[in-house]
Amino acid sequence: MPPVPSGHRPASFHAPVLSCVALVLLAACGGGADAGLPAEPPGWTWSLPPGFAPPLVPADNPMNTAKVELGRRLFHDARLSANGTLSCAGCHAGALAFTDGRAVARGATGQNHPRNAPGLFNAAYQATLDWANPAPRTLEQQMHTPLFGEQPIEMGVNDANRDAILQRLQSDAQYPNRFAQAFGGETAPLHWDNVIKAIAAFERTLVSAGSRYDQARTGTATLTDSEQRGQALFFGAQGAAHCVQCHGGPNLGGGAFVNIDGRVGTPGFHNIGLFNINGSSAYPDSNRGLIEFTGKPEDMGKFRAPSLRNVALTAPYLHDGSVATLEAVLALHADGGRVFGPGPYAGDGRANPYKDPLIDQIRIDAQEQADLVAFLKTLTDTPALADPRFADPFAR
Ligand code: HEC
Ligand code: HEC
Repeated sequence: MPPVPSGHRPASFHAPVLSCVALVLLAACGGGADAGLPAEPPGWTWSLPPGFAPPLVPADNPMNTAKVELGRRLFHDARLSANGTLSCAGCHAGALAFTDGRAVARGATGQNHPRNAPGLFNAAYQATLDWANPAPRTLEQQMHTPLFGEQPIEMGVNDANRDAILQRLQSDAQYPNRFAQAFGGETAPLHWDNVIKAIAAFERTLVSAGSRYDQARTGTATLTDSEQRGQALFFGAQGAAHCVQCHGGPNLGGGAFVNIDGRVGTPGFHNIGLFNINGSSAYPDSNRGLIEFTGKPEDMGKFRAPSLRNVALTAPYLHDGSVATLEAVLALHADGGRVFGPGPYAGDGRANPYKDPLIDQIRIDAQEQADLVAFLKTLTDTPALADPRFADPFAR
């Protein structure tokens, strides 16, 4: 395992290796096991593919097997939503690389989300979470949005129903025991903080590194000529595709935080020329991007360059799900943006003054676009999609 750098990291983190040590120490000190409470849970061993550093684990949420398994159940459990209709997996389905196949996500009460649901593989390595919000840095922080958010309502948990939802879990045949095992030492472990911690621990295990692209890197698969040409274009070995400059790092996007290879990346947000309403530079009010968080005019229309792992399964594309196919996404990058309209959002996105200048430098002809699409399809991780550790435990 490569060393995890300790330099650029918020103080609330420590290396996962240390979490295990902390757990062991706790267990050695007794950790409440004598008061008739469940014994300390067994620790955690990362079984990561070669070249993958463990993701960051917050100091107050160390990994253990009981917690990960509890998190898997909670992630797939619709009882967690106010009206019992929608689980996390309802919008992040394993078979679709943890997306929902919809242009924009739909919440428990039927309300549309303004944005497309991103996949969750390797999300633990992302520098920031969500399409344009630079604030959530941990999976625990991010989860407040789907659980408690009101604009839009996703799972609809609020002050009026949060205790009743916990009561549903409390009266389940398995949950009380599973919470006790996962959070050994706590007298009343079934509370929202621990729901969040368990799901986050599960999410940290969603590692995708078994695609044909990965296999080709380790010499266990050979890519076709077209896929190889696409790969060379993507990584800039030839031509002027510039893909890697925005979709960089082992996740091919986003800017990994503690990278899969142990390095620290920077988040990247870019305007790729999708809108320019009436020539005013504006994006639609519901989806203005980074500007909503920074207030800076130049951040209009800036969204995170998404990870492209498993991208063949995550259609439709872009923050608003407005593009149906990879071919069309590539054409749009090649055209320097898009002309949108007619309608209230009409305008020439290619002329958006805040467009990233790199977009105009992308020069890829039809054959090169086809090769790039072929390459993107090698990023599908078939073994991970079928991994029983990630599957819905309630499915029969
Ligand atoms: C209504 C559908 C819906 C539900 C239910 C939902 N999500 Fe999401 N999720 C989304 C959408 C849409 C986004 C993008 C949000 C944004 O950028 O504003 C997202 C983003 C995320 C991200 C950020 C991923 C990244 O790479 O940036 C994570 C992590 C996540 N969700 C986890 C969860 C968990 C855990 C649950 C259950 C507690 C959950 N989601 C429930 C729709 C949903
Ligand atoms: C200037 C930065 C930049 C460059 C260069 C770039 N992209 Fe993108 N790409 C983005 C951003 C940002 C998005 C999301 C935009 C949005 O939703 O508003 C995106 C979206 C995508 C998507 C859709 C993914 C999804 O899940 O919705 C694909 C596929 C993609 N890019 C492939 C490529 C390829 C292939 C190249 C090289 C030809 C490339 N990009 C070059 C920034 C870039």
